[in-house]
Amino acid sequence: MKILVTGGLGFIGSHTVVELQNKGFEVVIIDNLSNSSIDVLDGITTITGVKPHFEKIDLKEKADVVQFFEKHKDIVGVIHFAASKAVGESVKEPLMYYENNIGTLVYMLQAVSKLEKQNFIFSSSCTVYGQADELPITENAPVKPAESPYGNTKQIGEEIIRDTCKVNDKLKSIALRYFNPIGAHPSAEIGELPIGVPQNLVPYITQTGIGMREQLSVFGGDYETPDGTCVRDYIHVVDLAKAHVIALERLLEDKNLENYEVFNLGTGKGSSVLEAIHSFDRVSGKKLKYQIVGRREGDITAAYADTTRANDVLGWKTELSLDDAMASAWKWEQKIRNK
Ligand code: WQD
Repeated sequence: MKILVTGGLGFIGSHTVVELQNKGFEVVIIDNLSNSSIDVLDGITTITGVKPHFEKIDLKEKADVVQFFEKHKDIVGVIHFAASKAVGESVKEPLMYYENNIGTLVYMLQAVSKLEKQNFIFSSSCTVYGQADELPITENAPVKPAESPYGNTKQIGEEIIRDTCKVNDKLKSIALRYFNPIGAHPSAEIGELPIGVPQNLVPYITQTGIGMREQLSVFGGDYETPDGTCVRDYIHVVDLAKAHVIALERLLEDKNLENYEVFNLGTGKGSSVLEAIHSFDRVSGKKLKYQIVGRREGDITAAYADTTRANDVLGWKTELSLDDAMASAWKWEQKIRNK
């Protein structure tokens, strides 16, 4: 069965392609290489032994999207990752984010609506909850006004899909709300490739560990948390990738209870920034240099998932720990720096 993965050369996309191929799916990747490298294709092929079909397409070009789907009428499922995802950048360039994340979603859904099989997995984010009033966070937690245009594009994206499912009963869709994806494939053939100075915690930790960064700035030590630093639900990217395959199979096998479903994807465990640093020290045998500085604008205090629906309804749960994820991130960092 042929599956389209947009953004399939990206961090979560590439790990999902590996898991799809491991389950025997034929995978076609669309990526515009704006925030990924063509080398990732070789990484995937090295892991699975199967080179995915790749087409360099910018989903903002509607004619190219239409032409692609005319060539691939046998696609039975789509996993849509392609989007811009830097929170800070989205604040500076809102229109770029609305065009790239929303405009392309509309073109994708218009094209998918012409397929025989219309199964659509959407990459969403726990950022839709903002600072939830209750922890752990369930899927019924209210969606709050987004803190950034990036987060808003995830909220709007979910609404667009929900509204489309209402009027097109052939379309079945699942939105997956990720908590904090970290780590890399255990083979160290693929992983996170941040461009420039990493915004996210774990790549900054590993780049500090390898000596690329002087020290880690911990953004805030005075939060209402056990050790004063922010708490997040760090999920291994391989666990996250496997959840996408399970969600897709749910739709392919008509096990979905509604045409549009939402699942939180997290470990259910919160870890603080300092706990993440101690995890790095444990798995690397090093002592990470860090300094607690002022808070970062827009950060929420704590977020971690209630995994009941994912475990009991989707039938998926995480198997890997924070240390497993941190060890894989460290192994990947050492691999790419020693090239
Ligand atoms: C985690 C914690 C920081 C860097 C964002 C997006 C989310 C998703 C993941 C795309 C926070 C602290 C970080 C540093 C630090 N992105 N930190 N020093 O902000 O929870 O989530 O990335 O889908 O949508 O919102 O992740 O890794 O940036 O930060 O102290 O150099 O680490 O303050 O508490 P975040 P993050």
